[in-house]
Amino acid sequence: EKGGFPSFMEKEIHDQPAAVHDTLLGRSDPRGRLILDELRIDPAELKQVNKIIVLACGTAAYAGMVAKYAIENWCRIPTEVELAHEFRYRDPIVDKNTLVVSISQSGETMDTLMAVRYAREQGAKTVSICNTNGSTIPRESDAVLYTHAGPEIAVASTKAFLAQITAAYLLGLYLAQLRGNIFSGQIKDVLADLNKIPEKIQTVLDTTGPLRELARSMKDEKSVLFLGRNVGYPVALEGALKLKEIAYLHAEGFAAGELKHGPIALIDAGQPVFVVVPSPRGRDSLHSKVVSNIQEVRARGARTLVIAEEGDEAVREYAEHVVYVPETPPLLMPLLTTVPLQIFAAELAAAKGFDVDQPRNLAKSVTVE
Ligand code: M6R
Repeated sequence: EKGGFPSFMEKEIHDQPAAVHDTLLGRSDPRGRLILDELRIDPAELKQVNKIIVLACGTAAYAGMVAKYAIENWCRIPTEVELAHEFRYRDPIVDKNTLVVSISQSGETMDTLMAVRYAREQGAKTVSICNTNGSTIPRESDAVLYTHAGPEIAVASTKAFLAQITAAYLLGLYLAQLRGNIFSGQIKDVLADLNKIPEKIQTVLDTTGPLRELARSMKDEKSVLFLGRNVGYPVALEGALKLKEIAYLHAEGFAAGELKHGPIALIDAGQPVFVVVPSPRGRDSLHSKVVSNIQEVRARGARTLVIAEEGDEAVREYAEHVVYVPETPPLLMPLLTTVPLQIFAAELAAAKGFDVDQPRNLAKSVTVE
């Protein structure tokens, strides 16, 4: 059932082109209009939405963090992302014009379910982004947008993450279309770019040899840091979570801009630091700022392991190792830059002799508090 791969996680990493493809399938027409009738929420009500709150835990929350950048950009609706277990135990402000979007692979995560229940009781409209047909969270929500990643067996979430980002992007584009926030031509262009993602993920998967070798050589490391900015920030958090979960290795992700506010003190000779570099074609200052961050940690002796866009020659000089991913619009980059970090974690955990699919102390779905 592992399709010839050594673990379900490896298989699921390789399922990602299909997971994104299938999540996009049938949700737009050839003219580039979103068709999300499956949501069954009155479009007039969706037009009234003046705040979006994304609720989730773990990797699903990182998908929400990525989506926030895109949703705010396209819809101009203030969007918050909150861990479900934090949300439900404070006194959050939600009303009938709040759209609560929960994200859950299993659809059974207790904290997320309880947070959705609470929001619904307060009158919010609730949409569930979920990978499991008929599970509890979608059943208890006003609407559901399924991710079509197929069953995810490994405890460490991989293909569900990319599918969650894809689905949340479709939801964001749909809201933008309803509200007339962006030109239809722009929506069509984003959809066209999304449709090219599966092939680009495949390119990343086909070129993992040197990265795997690097991972095997690092099995005795004690700590790995991850830096990113903008949509690269949640990718850094996700890269760190994967290492903690399956390689039992101390890892932390930071917003690169935070370095000077504390974390740079951690850097000493030989400290491995992954840096997720934004596209040089995106907002110019962001790329150059991250390149400066690479220089800063390198000057203090860090080993700089860089994920960058094909053609970005500026990073070479400061990087011990560069993984290039194909060119893609800046907001879609997480669908590519996450993949090398997943592979790195899976390879490192396997090199340490751990059970990649069933890490200690963890369950696939957390149905208790
Ligand atoms: O089933 P869910 O998406 O609600 O699960 C949420 C988290 O428990 C989950 O993403 C967890 O963080 C993963 N094991 C991460 O790989």
